[in-house]
Amino acid sequence: MRWTKSALKARISDIIGNRQLIIATNREPYIHIYKEGKVEYMRPVGGAVTALDPVMRVCNGTWVAHGSGAADKEVVNKKDEIRVPPEDPQYTLKRIWLTKEEENGYYYGYSNKGLWPLCHMAYTRPEFEEIDWAYYKIVNQKFADTILNLAKHKKTFVWIHDYHLTLLGKMLKEKNKKILTANFFHIPWPNPEAFRICPQRKEILEGLLANDLLGFHIRYHCANFMETVKLDLEARIDNEKTAVVYGGHETLIRAFPISVDFDEISKIAESGETKKTVRHIKEQFSISPETFVMIGLDRIDYTKGIIEKIQAVDRFFEKFPEYKEKVVFIQKGGLSRIHIGAYKDLNEEINNLVENVNWKHSTKKWFPVIFVRKHMARKEIVALHKMANACLVSPVHDGMNLVCKEYVAAKNDLDGTLILSQFTGAARELEGAIFVNPYDREGFADAIKEAVILPKEERMRRMKNLRKTVKENNIYKWAGTFLEELKKI
Ligand code: G6P
Repeated sequence: MRWTKSALKARISDIIGNRQLIIATNREPYIHIYKEGKVEYMRPVGGAVTALDPVMRVCNGTWVAHGSGAADKEVVNKKDEIRVPPEDPQYTLKRIWLTKEEENGYYYGYSNKGLWPLCHMAYTRPEFEEIDWAYYKIVNQKFADTILNLAKHKKTFVWIHDYHLTLLGKMLKEKNKKILTANFFHIPWPNPEAFRICPQRKEILEGLLANDLLGFHIRYHCANFMETVKLDLEARIDNEKTAVVYGGHETLIRAFPISVDFDEISKIAESGETKKTVRHIKEQFSISPETFVMIGLDRIDYTKGIIEKIQAVDRFFEKFPEYKEKVVFIQKGGLSRIHIGAYKDLNEEINNLVENVNWKHSTKKWFPVIFVRKHMARKEIVALHKMANACLVSPVHDGMNLVCKEYVAAKNDLDGTLILSQFTGAARELEGAIFVNPYDREGFADAIKEAVILPKEERMRRMKNLRKTVKENNIYKWAGTFLEELKKI
């Protein structure tokens, strides 16, 4: 059977039975903002919400998340809830409000200055401040109190997501043993030596091990997690079952490679409106029909290898100047976590680098890098994918990476090449990509050349294989297999 939206819809009540489904993430799927005095909403670009929104549309539960938009309070009811997607409501979003201090300590501080660099090992030093940890606990407790209230009179399954909420499972179980809980960790789990530097590691591991099921993208992260537990806790590791028993409680550890809504993206890519948007974007950037277009789409984050990618594009034009005016690289970069020094610095570094590379290679009618900062609607993103002859995905470390899968889903015409970092979880699935080590500038520049000259037949053969993989291993399969695992508990 192929998992599809309708297959998940047909099976969901059998899978979760009479339990209500609550999911918890830090980031909310829809953010309400003020624009020119009016309330509007936007969809954030991060991987977790991109993957979970289509699932929630099918499962119809409650999604609890931090209400971070300036206009968020204006549109919720007395229970701080709103039905979403706003244009076609299918599930409930319940917003949690945080004070500036809480957001600063829990989100910017402990989650993103501490756990994010710790787990990605991208040579950015993690910082663990006591005060941030205190707020991290306070906010995890805030989520717990809200969810315990919702679960008072109903059998409930709580699906927790990511590194922001590692303590939540334990906080829930301590007050209500009947709640089933699972955590899916969207970022890599590092090796035990790396995790060892975290002063609060015992509490974090205990928080995660209170869950009944713990998911990672790939087996390697599961193995790292189990090794970490072995090193830090008196727990029993059951390798046969891939489970950990700690304090008499068993947690299943499983790999579930996350994905995208292949059918939906494919459909959007085929639409007449997308073709129009492609024409519009090409006009806007003065791109001629013969130009070989390469794209990159990332949150501006030091794990994404944006600097390495632009340096590789620079090296490509140095080594192969005959491609000047024939190849262009469009990088879309959304600002992210900008109150953190490392992100501010990166943003500045990117600006300088783009300016230098463009100055160095530009001709009278062409420059090599177009850096797009404005927020793009979903249809524009699909159009960018559709028009791209190559997509450059170059994280220095990434749990999975969904941009590469979105690209594949949008290439109905099979005419495109994926250049993919070997340090992404997706690299383990996406045979047919040209793999690169983003730290190896020379090799990366050669890989770009390889993509530019790849014969059409070979390009299409590769893309066909990639599409087969993503079509089969889509987001509904990820959610369906995750939820089915719960039935075994
Ligand atoms: C990663 C994390 C998500 C997060 C996203 C965007 O994909 O796993 O949990 O939402 O980055 O980051 P942000 O801090 O903007 O939510």
